[in-house]
Amino acid sequence: MRLIIHKDYAAASRWAAAYIADRINAFASGDRPFVLGLPTGSSPLGIYREFIRLRKEGNLSFARVVTFNMDEYVGLPPDHPQSYHRFMQDNLFSQMDVKTENAHILNGMAADLAGECEAYEAAIAAAGGIDLFLGGMGVDGHLAFNEPGSSLQSRTRIKTLTQDTKFANARFFGGDPRQVPSTALTVGVGTVMDAREVLIIVNGHNKARALQAVVEGGVNHMWTLSCLQTHRRAIIVCDEEATDELKVSTVRYFKDIEKAAGSYSG
Ligand code: GLP
Repeated sequence: MRLIIHKDYAAASRWAAAYIADRINAFASGDRPFVLGLPTGSSPLGIYREFIRLRKEGNLSFARVVTFNMDEYVGLPPDHPQSYHRFMQDNLFSQMDVKTENAHILNGMAADLAGECEAYEAAIAAAGGIDLFLGGMGVDGHLAFNEPGSSLQSRTRIKTLTQDTKFANARFFGGDPRQVPSTALTVGVGTVMDAREVLIIVNGHNKARALQAVVEGGVNHMWTLSCLQTHRRAIIVCDEEATDELKVSTVRYFKDIEKAAGSYSG
């Protein structure tokens, strides 16, 4: 696993967006579209802004990109201001040239939620699997909505949200955790781990405790993102603040690796 530390969120976002754009552009002449997994939340917003800028400059197109979002609340209609359907429209899709039929998001209003999850896994497989899964991390180390205690082999399914997550996400629901849906559909840890590459963006001091557990602790279902330690091609890109709980020697070593690779900007 690579840990790429940038001085601030803007630099981390720029690096991540450029990295993904390179991957997509390298695929442009291939015989199949690039399959990209996408998150919601505040963490990827800087990357989405960069995608839009690159698109305007003519340096990135989603015309041959198939997307699969990580998760969606159960019971929120797609046009609800806090649904992840709406989030993706507002923050990315409306300004990119992605084809509607290529942008997949779990339907949290499906009559058969288990069937919806099975169909989602089948659609990912039919697309040839995910080339790169972009993600964020919850303050408790969760990946998508794979809350602490989730199986590290899990597939797309219904999850009950923890109190921690409801409190964290209450900021989007008028500050009231009781307004946050209690359940969500989410890709599993195993679904993300099947991607050929995983890129996670982490920023801010409030993520430092979780980043320490994920990078320096053992693989543990209580910090589901720690699964990345066993992925063959995984990157966490973060800002300096998020490294506040890591050992000095850990930070130095990961920086040394990236200096040698020429990707350290700090
Ligand atoms: C939610 C999402 C996750 C996201 C996390 C962190 O729980 N399901 O995919 O990583 O929030 O959100 P933020 O980036 O706003 O800190």
